[in-house]
Amino acid sequence: MNKSPSGAEKEAYVESLFSAIAPKYDFMNSVLSLTRHKAWRRHAVSMSGLKAGGRALDVCCGTGDFAFDLANTVGPEGSVVGVDFAAPMIELAKAKASRCGRHNIEFLVGNVCNLPFEDDSFDCVTVGFGIRNVADIDKAIGEMARVTKPGGKVICLEISQIRSPILRLPWMLYFYVLTPYTARFFRARRSAYEYLPQSAKDFIGREELAARFEKSGLHDVCFHDMMFGAVCIHIGKKPVSVGYLSP
Ligand SMILES: C[S@@+](CC[C@H](N)C(=O)[O-])C[C@H]1O[C@@H](n2cnc3c(N)ncnc32)[C@H](O)[C@@H]1O
Repeated sequence: MNKSPSGAEKEAYVESLFSAIAPKYDFMNSVLSLTRHKAWRRHAVSMSGLKAGGRALDVCCGTGDFAFDLANTVGPEGSVVGVDFAAPMIELAKAKASRCGRHNIEFLVGNVCNLPFEDDSFDCVTVGFGIRNVADIDKAIGEMARVTKPGGKVICLEISQIRSPILRLPWMLYFYVLTPYTARFFRARRSAYEYLPQSAKDFIGREELAARFEKSGLHDVCFHDMMFGAVCIHIGKKPVSVGYLSP
C-alpha cells in the first residue's frame, strides 16, 4: 500500500486488513502491548463519567474489548453498542458476548462516518485505536459528537508520539522494527503489522487531534498521556446549551 492513501482507497484497505487479521487480533494485541492494552482501555473508561444505567457507544470496536469495559461500568440496567465496519471483527465480538452471557451489549456492522443513530443518543462515545485508521477523521469525530447527549463525553484512546527523547529510540526500534518480526514469528500477517507503526507515524499529533475535537464543537477538550506519551487519551464534552458543528 502507498504510505498515505486517503478516502475510499484507505477505507477499503483498512476494512480488508482488519477483516483478515481478526482471528489473531486479540492475541497479537496482548503480545505487542504486553497486555497493557486492557489497562489503557479501563483507564479511559474510568474518565467517562458513565454511571450504572447509562448508555454508551464504542466505534471502531473491533472484537469488543472497549465495549465490554463500558458494559461493566453501566451494569445490567445500562446498555452498550459496538460498531465496526469489519464484519469478522463484529462476529468475534458477538461470539465473546454470547460466551460471557452479556445481554446489555449489541454489536453492529457500520461505518463511524455514518452512524445509524439519532442525535443525542449516548452518554458517552468511545473509540480505541481506531481513529487513526479512519479515512475522514473530522467526519468521524463529528459523528461521534452528534450522537453524544449534551453533557456527555467523546473519548479517544490512540497511539501517539512518545515524548521522552531518551525513550524515543528504543520505542521506535520496538515499534517499527520488532513489531513486524513479532507478527511473523506468530504467523500473523506481517504486512498488517507493518501498517500498524506506519499508520501511527502518519497520524496527527496530540495537539492537532485536540484541535479537531474542538473544531467539531466539543468543549473542555483535554488529553492524558500514558506510557510516556506512546498512548494518549483525548476527552471532549458535548456542550449542554449550544449546538455543535455538524460535519
Ligand atoms: C486497531 S483496531 C481497534 C479495535 C478496538 N477498538 C480495540 O481497542 O482493540 C481498529 C478498528 O477500527 C475499525 N475501523 C476503521 N475504520 C473504520 C470505520 N470508518 N468505521 C468503522 N470501523 C472502522 C477496523 O475495522 C478495526 O476493527
